[in-house]
Amino acid sequence: MLFSPKGIAFVLAGSVAIITTAFLSLIKDTPGSALFVAFSIAFASSFLLFYFSLEFLVFREINKIFTVIDKVKKKDFKLPRKQIVIDTNPLKRLNEEIFAYATRKQQEIDELKKLENFRKEFLANVSHELKTPIFAAQGFIHTLIDGAIDDKSVRDKFLDKAAKSLDGLDALVKDLLTLSQMETGDIKMHYEKFDIGHLTSDIFEQLEEKAEAKRVQLKFDKKMSVPVWAYADRHRITQVMTNLIDNAIKYGREEGKVLVSFDSDKEHLIVSVKDDGPGIEPEHLKRIFERFYRIEKSRSKEQGGTGLGLAIVKHIIEAHRSKVSVTSKMGKGTTFSFKLEKGDNK
Ligand SMILES: Nc1ncnc2c1ncn2[C@@H]1O[C@H](COP(=O)(O)OP(=O)(O)O)[C@@H](O)[C@H]1O
Ligand SMILES: [Mg+2]
Repeated sequence: MLFSPKGIAFVLAGSVAIITTAFLSLIKDTPGSALFVAFSIAFASSFLLFYFSLEFLVFREINKIFTVIDKVKKKDFKLPRKQIVIDTNPLKRLNEEIFAYATRKQQEIDELKKLENFRKEFLANVSHELKTPIFAAQGFIHTLIDGAIDDKSVRDKFLDKAAKSLDGLDALVKDLLTLSQMETGDIKMHYEKFDIGHLTSDIFEQLEEKAEAKRVQLKFDKKMSVPVWAYADRHRITQVMTNLIDNAIKYGREEGKVLVSFDSDKEHLIVSVKDDGPGIEPEHLKRIFERFYRIEKSRSKEQGGTGLGLAIVKHIIEAHRSKVSVTSKMGKGTTFSFKLEKGDNK
């Protein structure tokens, strides 16, 4: 009540009337009735004056502002309207509402800024990654045109290098396309029942040469019993397993071992890919799923990596409503694992 226009007008009018009467009482011999009349007139006229000016000039306008803020808030945040408490100070309430609104907006702006930075960084990375192989291939081809083509051994070497650069470019563009399709939701998962043990042996065969070059053994866990039925997108899981096994070979140690195992709990199949390589330091471990994140940039590139492999793995596993986890011990090795739905009863 105190902060309603009436309350404020009452207090102010009272003060004006008291001051006026007090002054009047200083004049000698003023009769009591005159003081009373003066008090009443001063009180009544100032009350009306204060009341109408507060009501029409201040409070109505403040209420209009409230209504507008309310509409914006509802539209922006879909917040339920807070109950208006009639006798709290409207200016304080206005202040609080504006503050709350500004805080929400600031959060939104921060979020947008973060996304903007992410976009900029991504664009810079993509351009850089595309530039490198194009630049290399361009260099080799121009050198050939400028005369190196006449020397047979140089020609073959340069053509081979140009082809390798273009293969890298092809892999990069394919990975980028997969990532973007996964993000826009263009790729739907096609669930089916398949033997993931068999699928893994196929991948072992494909990567055999690469493994042999480093004298790495590709193995299954001894406990495994075939078949191992999974219910998932076969094609996408092939991509995941290829990436993880390929990484284990590339970043594992020479003469090392890559072990794939399948465990299960009630509803899920737990797939793990383990290597006995140098391991990943904790500060890198958090970031290896980011796009283009590589620990040793030069080493990874020379191994033919795009830096997008694990980002794609993460996307695919999340599309299966699951998560990839990674544990690593320096000097001992790294294990990537994820859960899939079991396929036995499908
Ligand atoms: N098994 C592993 N052991 C050690 N480091 C790894 C392993 N797997 C991945 N990494 C690190 O994570 C980075 C990202 O992997 P990935 O996204 O597959 O990119 P890429 O294979 O193209 O380099 C690699 O560059 C490597 O530094
Ligand atoms: Mg990889």
